[in-house]
Amino acid sequence: MDWLKTSARIMIVSDLDHTMVDHHDPENLSLLRFNALWESNYRHDSLLVFSTGRSPTLYKQLRKEKPMLTPDITIMSVGTEITYGIAMVPDNGWVEILNQKWDRNIVLEETHKFPELKLQSETEQRPHKVSFYVDKSKAQEVTKALSEKLENRGMNVKIIYSGGMDLDILPQGAGKGQALAYLLQKFKKEGKPPKNTLVCGDSGNDAELFSIPEVHGVMVSNAQEELLQWHTENAKNNPKIIHAAERCAGGIIQAIGHFGLGPNISPRDVAETADNHLEDAGPAHEVIKFNFFCEKWRRAEIEQCDMYIESLKASCDPAGSLVHPSGVEQCLHDGISALKKTYGDKQGKGYRVWVDRVLPSKISSDTWLVKFVKWEILGGSSKAVSALQS
Ligand code: GLC
Ligand code: MG
Repeated sequence: MDWLKTSARIMIVSDLDHTMVDHHDPENLSLLRFNALWESNYRHDSLLVFSTGRSPTLYKQLRKEKPMLTPDITIMSVGTEITYGIAMVPDNGWVEILNQKWDRNIVLEETHKFPELKLQSETEQRPHKVSFYVDKSKAQEVTKALSEKLENRGMNVKIIYSGGMDLDILPQGAGKGQALAYLLQKFKKEGKPPKNTLVCGDSGNDAELFSIPEVHGVMVSNAQEELLQWHTENAKNNPKIIHAAERCAGGIIQAIGHFGLGPNISPRDVAETADNHLEDAGPAHEVIKFNFFCEKWRRAEIEQCDMYIESLKASCDPAGSLVHPSGVEQCLHDGISALKKTYGDKQGKGYRVWVDRVLPSKISSDTWLVKFVKWEILGGSSKAVSALQS
C-alpha cells in the first residue's frame, strides 16, 4: 500500500463469514467492537486485509448488510482476486501468475462427470475459481477421484472443502495462503514487511493462512471441524496459533491481547462516565468515543443526563468544528447542544453508528484535522454519512 511509508505495525488478515462477521449475532456487537478498536488504535499505521471466499458481487452485498470497515486490501474468491484500496484496484500481476497452467474448461469438463457436485451460483464462478456444493459424506471421496481425473488431464489444481458444504477448485498456486505469501513478498521487496501479521479464520479455506511462516493465527471459537482437524494434524505444537475462547471478531480481539500485538480494549467496552471525555487519548479515539456516545444517546441506552452533554462540551475546544463533505460547517459545541433534542429518537430501531478510515493529521501546533467516514445502520441497511472533524 503506497500510503503507508514504512512497515505496517500490524497486518490483520481476516476471513469474513463466521470470522470477522458473526451471522448469529443480529446486533453485530463483536464486529462493532473490533471496528472501534481498529479505528482508534490501528488504522493510521497498520493494514487491514479481508480475505474471503466470496466473489466481488457477494462481498459487496455483505458490505451492505453488515457494519463493515473498508479494508486496505481485499482478497476475494478464495485468494484468486486481490484488490487495493477503496477503489478496489485489481492486482494484475497476480492474475498473470494464476493464468499459468490453468484451463477452466478442462475443470468444467471433468467436474461435469460427477453428479454429486452441484454448481454454485453464476456469481461465484470466477476466472480462477470453479465452485460447487457437495454433501459432507461424499466430499472426501469426490475430492480424491476428481483430483486423479484432473491430474490425468495434466492439470495442477487445488481442491478445497469448506464449511461442510463448499468445494472450490483453483489453480495450484492460488488460495488464501498463497495470496498472503504473494503480498508479504511484495511488501518485503518494497522494504516494508509488516512488523506483525495476524491471520484469522474459521473454516477449511482458511487453513492455508495458518501455514505461512512467522504469522500469528487465531481460529475463532466457532471454527469448523475441518479447520480444527487440519490444525491437529499439521500445527498442533505451534504456539503462534490459538483457538480462541470467543466467537468471531471477539476472538480476533482476544488474540491481539494474547500475542501482545497492541492495545485490545475497544472504546465500545469502556463504560460511559462523566469524566470519561476528559482523558487525552488521541484525536482518532476522540472521534470514535464521540460517535459512540451519540449512538447510545439516540438509542436511549444511557441516562438522559445533561451532565453528559456538558462534560462532552467541556472536553471539546470551542473552536472545534464539524465539516460535512458538502462544505457545510458546524461548530462542534452547537452540534453537541443539538443532541439534547435527539435523545432516544432511534430507540428500538436497530440503530448503530461506526466510523471508518479515521485518519488524523496535525495541521498546526494545537489543531488536528480528522477525516473519517461515518456510517449508520438502521434496521438492517447501512448508509455512509461522511464527515470531517477538526
Ligand atoms: C464463499 C463463496 C463460495 C465458496 C465458499 C468457500 O461462500 O461464495 O463460492 O465456495 O466461500 O470457499
Ligand atoms: Mg469463514
